[in-house]
Amino acid sequence: MTENKGQLIALCHLDDLTDGTSRGFKQGNQNVFAIKQGGQVFVYRNACPHLGIPLEWVENQFLDSSGSVIQCANHGAQFVIQSGQCVSGPCLGRSLQSIPHQILDNHIWIKSK
Ligand code: FES
Repeated sequence: MTENKGQLIALCHLDDLTDGTSRGFKQGNQNVFAIKQGGQVFVYRNACPHLGIPLEWVENQFLDSSGSVIQCANHGAQFVIQSGQCVSGPCLGRSLQSIPHQILDNHIWIKSK
């Protein structure tokens, strides 16, 4: 879904992101993913700080099998969902790029570029 509100782009309806899951989005030249956990939404650029490539191999699968950390499918780096900080793997101590977002009208919005 691409719905524009001025400078904002809607990623999806809040109900389209089940709690404890992740989902990827390509909006123009922006490649991002969102996670909902505990009712909170986190959005990051889909690029591993290690090599700058997308994190997922399987569509919409950005979490490890336990659903408790973000995991890069390429070389296994793991990141804290809430902060994006790498806690294991080749980019230890570095962070995913957080994407500012807003919740409006039950949708997740990011700024267009
Ligand atoms: S590209 Fe992500 S861990 Fe190496």
